[in-house]
Amino acid sequence: MNSQSIRARFLEFFRKKQHQIVKSAPIVIKNDPTLMFTNAGMNQFKDFFLGNATSNDLRVANTQKCLRVSGKHNDLEEVGFDTYHHTMFEMLGNWSFGDYFKKEAISWAWEFLVGELKLPADRLYVTVFEGDKALNLEKDMEAHNFWKEWISEERILNGSKKDNFWEMGDSGPCGPCSEIHIDLRPAEALKEIPGKDLVNKDHPLVIEIWNLVFIEFNRMADGTLVNLPSKHVDTGMGFERLSMALQGKTSTYDTDIFTPLISQLGQESGISYGDSQDGDVAMRVVADHIRAIGFTIADGQLPSNTGAGYVIRRILRRAVRYGYTFLGYQEPFLYRLIPVLSTQFDGVFDELKKQEAFVANVVKEEEAAFLKTLEKGLGILDGINKNKAIDGSFLFKLYDTYGFPKDLSLLILKEKGVLQNLSENWEKEFEKDLNSQKGRSKADAAKETGDWIQVHADGSGTFIGYDALECETRILKYRKVKIKGKAQVQIVLEQTPFYGESGGQVGDIGVLVSGNEKIPVLDTQKENDLIVHYTDSLPGKPEASIKAVVDSSRRARIMVHHSTTHLLHAALREVLGTHVEQRGSLVEEDGLRFDFSHFAKMSEAEIEAVETIVNKKVKENVPLVEDRALPMEAALKKGAMALFGEKYGDRVRVVTFDPDYSVELCGGTHVNATGKIGLFKIIGESSVAAGVRRIEALSGDAAEAWVRAQSESIARIKDLLKQPKDIAQSIQQLLEHNKALEKKVESLQGAQASGMKQELINKATTVGEAKIIIAEVPLDGADAVKKLAFELRNEVPGLVLVLGIITDDKPLLTIAIADDMVKKYGLHAGNLVRTLASKIQGGGGGQPFFATAGGKNPEGMAEALELAEEMLKTDINQKG
Ligand code: SER
Repeated sequence: MNSQSIRARFLEFFRKKQHQIVKSAPIVIKNDPTLMFTNAGMNQFKDFFLGNATSNDLRVANTQKCLRVSGKHNDLEEVGFDTYHHTMFEMLGNWSFGDYFKKEAISWAWEFLVGELKLPADRLYVTVFEGDKALNLEKDMEAHNFWKEWISEERILNGSKKDNFWEMGDSGPCGPCSEIHIDLRPAEALKEIPGKDLVNKDHPLVIEIWNLVFIEFNRMADGTLVNLPSKHVDTGMGFERLSMALQGKTSTYDTDIFTPLISQLGQESGISYGDSQDGDVAMRVVADHIRAIGFTIADGQLPSNTGAGYVIRRILRRAVRYGYTFLGYQEPFLYRLIPVLSTQFDGVFDELKKQEAFVANVVKEEEAAFLKTLEKGLGILDGINKNKAIDGSFLFKLYDTYGFPKDLSLLILKEKGVLQNLSENWEKEFEKDLNSQKGRSKADAAKETGDWIQVHADGSGTFIGYDALECETRILKYRKVKIKGKAQVQIVLEQTPFYGESGGQVGDIGVLVSGNEKIPVLDTQKENDLIVHYTDSLPGKPEASIKAVVDSSRRARIMVHHSTTHLLHAALREVLGTHVEQRGSLVEEDGLRFDFSHFAKMSEAEIEAVETIVNKKVKENVPLVEDRALPMEAALKKGAMALFGEKYGDRVRVVTFDPDYSVELCGGTHVNATGKIGLFKIIGESSVAAGVRRIEALSGDAAEAWVRAQSESIARIKDLLKQPKDIAQSIQQLLEHNKALEKKVESLQGAQASGMKQELINKATTVGEAKIIIAEVPLDGADAVKKLAFELRNEVPGLVLVLGIITDDKPLLTIAIADDMVKKYGLHAGNLVRTLASKIQGGGGGQPFFATAGGKNPEGMAEALELAEEMLKTDINQKG
């Protein structure tokens, strides 16, 4: 059974059990401060479990792209070394939102695995939660008894909180779980140790394939468990592991999910999978990591130096390094796996096929950049021997200079067997260097979050800000937080006109009015479906009704920029082509930023064409047509552009400015007709990453202010130039004139210097065999003196020269001594200048034949020169 059909049969099985089949959520998570990547199928349903939102369907199933590389669930270190861990994997799942519970979840799981897929029942084991004193929870007898109907009791094993109480993160929905494990060992091995002794013991062939979680609780920030309003089912089956069991393999990497990738690596490198341990590990690492890299980039996350982007960069660098060291790749190679992957997943996760060239390009550039420093960094790590102590600063240097993520350096230290040489505090040392480089202290970044305190009935609050900018409402819940050491309050309102930052549009600010109190709202953010208002304090009576008022003039300026973004997007596609896709945006009151896929710098003509189209659309005063809740299919039929990596519900909001021009899926706020945008002006075009360009632009008041400032500065320039007819020509002339003057000055200086040179030569006094010249000269700048000193040194045999100049009120001493004088009299310009420097309150140094010293006290110059004469004469006379 190939993996495609295994996936299809799972979905079909649950479709027949009245489950709605839904799409995988993007692998990169937005609007959730607790999670960077989807790490389980249930993430996208978290708000249904918490009661913040309700699902239209009580039963759903899907296959979800998951990534476990950070936070509570992190498998990165295992990947490559064993045969069944992955960073990115697919999780097949079925869910009940307050509908069926343990009985159905258990019997359907059994029916699917044993009835449908014919996995041998005598190779399966199940675990149930044994209870936990600290949590004050009893053994899950219910699950135990339901299992008894299907499987003999000796195959039902107890499991501890670690394995059988599932939690997504440190807080959030959770509950006891029941896992299904399979024993894939050869028959003879079964006789030696019974499978039940190997369950949850990290045996590569006795593995968990399916986890049935019975979500009943919410874990609070303080660690307590609170009962949820209803009970839910969350199941997750490892697709790669299931495929391994069904395809009779002993490694997930031997299934048809990974073999196309591994065989391409084999063909290219000439190394066969199975030849050597290092080569095998490397191939598994690369085959695994390219999936994580490819799907996250396709979901809109570019590699970068912070947050989710840095996680991708780290994974990519880990893969590059394995390929380089163990598979012999000296040039970018990962990007060539993208087409293999996109073909494999065509029809399952289409986003990769649709953006194949773009993703491959980003990967290639990242690889090339890292390969440039990889060898040097590896060389430094190679230099470490068994006895050398290693501290965090060393790892920081590798990170900072050679781009080695610290986990990559650790991995290499481990391979070299010198991990124990690391200082105990290496992490702190690393952080310290990192923070001092970033100029911030750890306390700045720290954030403490308390639990939500319920004031009125639960819910996520309704956004009414498309139609109103103020309303009477009440507080649903609030919590106290500390951000950068500053106490703040986060408030959720029953109804709110405040827009929570999302889709690039910044959050609203405004006030909450409660009786006589006016509490400023400093920002509004979204947390999943919650709209969270940030304030400095809580109203005295939180339960009283309050009035929520948005800063309307700021909002108006933001709306102008958001609508402009849509017009700009359409214009870019018209001018550059339909390969242009939005890659990110920022919509603020003072302007907008729009990132999009395009391979070349935009020409002046292209920029002008885009401006012209947008301004034309503004002048047409196209009215806004807004569909608040269109079924997704209808929206797509209208030609609405959906963004990769964005999570959309069944019903979507569609914003149209002329059905033939701009139709977008969008939750943002907009002007009611494009005329409100006023003037549109692009003020910047640059590159953000491989194949991604950025436009910065202004419209409305901001554009007018910009134009005003421009014309003011032109007026100033005209004034300075005495109102010329043509400013550009006038400046051109000025520049030319300036250049001519510079030339003149240079030649005059040359003449002056040669006159000066002669004068100095005439002044030379002979002491022993030395020709001593000591003088203060009217030259400007260290370079001019240096030039003169070297010329004299070439022309005057036996030269001993001390020159002083004063430039910009700063004294500078320059000493040049002929080589034979250095030898004969043991003179040393560097030592001499250091002594003289004390007279001018300065310091300096240099070689025996040439040295300089700068100082602060020009008054000391004469004294310094006198001292020079005295010392030189003494030295020469003594040695002579
Ligand atoms: N949430 C559970 C898991 O990830 C089941 O889906 O294992």
